[in-house]
Amino acid sequence: MKMLEKFDFNAGFFAACALLIFLVGATITTAYPAFTEDSWSKPNDGLHQYSESQLNGREVYKREGCWYCHTQQIRTLEPDTKRYGWRGVDAPISVPSEYVNDYPHFLGTRRIGPDLARVGGKYDKSWHRAHFMNPRDLVPGSIMPPFPWLIADDNGRDFDDLVNYLQTLGRSRDWRPAHDYEQ
Ligand code: HEC
Repeated sequence: MKMLEKFDFNAGFFAACALLIFLVGATITTAYPAFTEDSWSKPNDGLHQYSESQLNGREVYKREGCWYCHTQQIRTLEPDTKRYGWRGVDAPISVPSEYVNDYPHFLGTRRIGPDLARVGGKYDKSWHRAHFMNPRDLVPGSIMPPFPWLIADDNGRDFDDLVNYLQTLGRSRDWRPAHDYEQ
């Protein structure tokens, strides 16, 4: 094939074609969804502005590096929807409208621990207290580090705020059948 031979001998032609293919891929994955996804930049019906306490909780989440180990995104895959589901109900897949108030967002890149996008309401405050004091007391073999200073310093203000924030995660979707451990 004459056309394909050209790739072997013409570096400029090769580079131009490679760039074109890259641009098509980049446009499809970045620009296209913004035009076709309805929920883009519009908040969910159940989404509320963060309170001051929840905003500080987000700062704690950022400062302590929770996002190094935890993602906040339910992908379109069964292992995600099943694993992060609740009493036999699948977790809803994440949509852009859930993140409208998140700046910066904590989508995360690595799952060293479980995804937290649907963790709001899963555990009550005393569970979180015991878990941050020493995760291994509750989950034998856990590799999550303890965060005792959140509870010890400043009368546990950072702990209170962090839990207030964690309890918002996934709540705008109102998906749990029997609801949950309310605070
Ligand atoms: C070094 C990685 C690492 C860091 C940093 C980390 N975690 Fe974890 N986390 C884990 C692992 C692993 C688990 C699973 C075992 C367990 O529950 O302890 C977990 C579990 C959890 C759970 C329970 C999730 C569930 O569905 O059962 C919550 C909530 C949580 N982490 C919150 C946090 C918060 C908030 C921070 C920051 C203050 C944090 N983690 C920092 C690794 C980490």
